[in-house]
Amino acid sequence: MSVQKELPQFRKDKLGRVSFYVDGAPFIALSGELHNSSASSLRYMDEKVWPALRPLHMNSVILPITWESIEPEENSFDFSLPDGLIAAARREGLRLILLWFGLWKNGMSTYVPGWVKSASSGKDARFFRVRDGFGKPLDCISPFCAEAVGADAKAFRALMQHISEIDADRTVIAVQVENEIGVLGAGRDYSDAASAAYLQPIPDSVARWYEVSGSWEEAFGADGAEMLMAWQYAQAVEQIASQGKSVYLLPMYVNAWLQQHPDRAGAYPSGGPIAKVKELWKLAAPSISCYAPDIYVNNFGKVCDEYATSGNPLFIPEVRATKDSASFLMYAVGKHGALCFAPFGIEDLFGKRSDEIGGNLLSALNIGADAFDPSGAGNRLAAAYDLIGNMKELIFEAHRKKQIHAFLEYHDAGTTIHLTHYDAQISYTGASESFFGGAGKGADKAVSGGFIIETDENSFILCGSGYSVQFLPRPGEAKAVGVLKKEEGRYQEGVWIPGRTLNGDEGYFISLSDFPQVQKVRLFEYE
Ligand code: DGJ
Repeated sequence: MSVQKELPQFRKDKLGRVSFYVDGAPFIALSGELHNSSASSLRYMDEKVWPALRPLHMNSVILPITWESIEPEENSFDFSLPDGLIAAARREGLRLILLWFGLWKNGMSTYVPGWVKSASSGKDARFFRVRDGFGKPLDCISPFCAEAVGADAKAFRALMQHISEIDADRTVIAVQVENEIGVLGAGRDYSDAASAAYLQPIPDSVARWYEVSGSWEEAFGADGAEMLMAWQYAQAVEQIASQGKSVYLLPMYVNAWLQQHPDRAGAYPSGGPIAKVKELWKLAAPSISCYAPDIYVNNFGKVCDEYATSGNPLFIPEVRATKDSASFLMYAVGKHGALCFAPFGIEDLFGKRSDEIGGNLLSALNIGADAFDPSGAGNRLAAAYDLIGNMKELIFEAHRKKQIHAFLEYHDAGTTIHLTHYDAQISYTGASESFFGGAGKGADKAVSGGFIIETDENSFILCGSGYSVQFLPRPGEAKAVGVLKKEEGRYQEGVWIPGRTLNGDEGYFISLSDFPQVQKVRLFEYE
């Protein structure tokens, strides 16, 4: 019998910052999400997936467990697939974050068992569907269908019970409840039950929080339909998650298909936890530890900034899998202390874009074709994961002491960071207005990004890629700044292993090339 390890946890400190604890210590999930069907076959995983992940220096993988696979007949459970996946992850030295594909996956009910699908036809069906404004049934079981939510909650509880019995070493560290929830193709559910609820007064807790009253429409005007759906989905998720937590207290989160062009609920799943309705979700679903953005839009930094607010930790279960991923990681970890970072379709990172991601699928999911171009992505992400994994204690400490400053290129030339003694003028390599005026901006260049840790007022750790730094005296100070020592190197479990000392040709300018790396710089002033 193996010894029970400490439960994975999201813990809040006195300042309200949330950390992810695994084996009793802070953890960053350096992860990747698999294509939807990869984990449905243990053999496919052994042949194609686990070998593709080995060079990436990941510490965890995100993969689905589907309702149809564990409850093929009503009340008859089969956990052989999760058992096999957990055993293989242990063999690979990786932790798992499970996606519960229950009633809802991308606004649809495609992963429910056959016995649920067969009982979902007609207005009075046992598992009735969402209807659009014309009364047409959608491929989505209604969150107002109490029997469906109850059946999902029962299956999810059985899964969590089983994992609690076989996973004393905590291979599974967190669970996503459902996937990109919400109604696609209509602003709200127009089933009879939903339309009746739309006219009811909003719940007291909602009225108090938002200081409004009346029906959903009276209280929220044009946003009423989306607010009703958010409330209903959140309540359903709360029922499902709390059933799971009652038998196994793992951290649970919900992910979001973001609000994006065309900017209207129903074009993106209406009722999902987009930034605008996060607070409503929090009211209805106290069992959920965080709301997690799936980031396929270009403006990565803005989405991170929007989600890492009001005590919501930044947890990124899906992000574009491209050469830019490494810079995105640096920003997410350096700026917001992200708990998880996971490019989607991670098993493709060293290869070509997989056939699964065709143009039709991408347009149905409203994802730009450039979001899955893995050229140059694998080596960069592997280096970045190696780097961050080996300096994570330093990063945690720098966050505690507020000594870390992160930046990310987004149609700009650079930024200036105000440090204790100096200003650090960051110029993105190749950006048209940058200090180096366009040099080095090839088609292959990733967006620039990284962070600086100020270990003391004259010493800095520079991390990331594609930028130069000019350290300047604070404005108005009649001093010059010189380099005392500049080193390349790497961290090995928190210990600095120096490489070359950079001086002369390599010393005049402080710059990090277009590949994730770390340098240490010590400065002095003279007058
Ligand atoms: C977002 C979904 O959550 C994933 O399951 C997957 O469908 C990706 N989009 C893109 O393929």
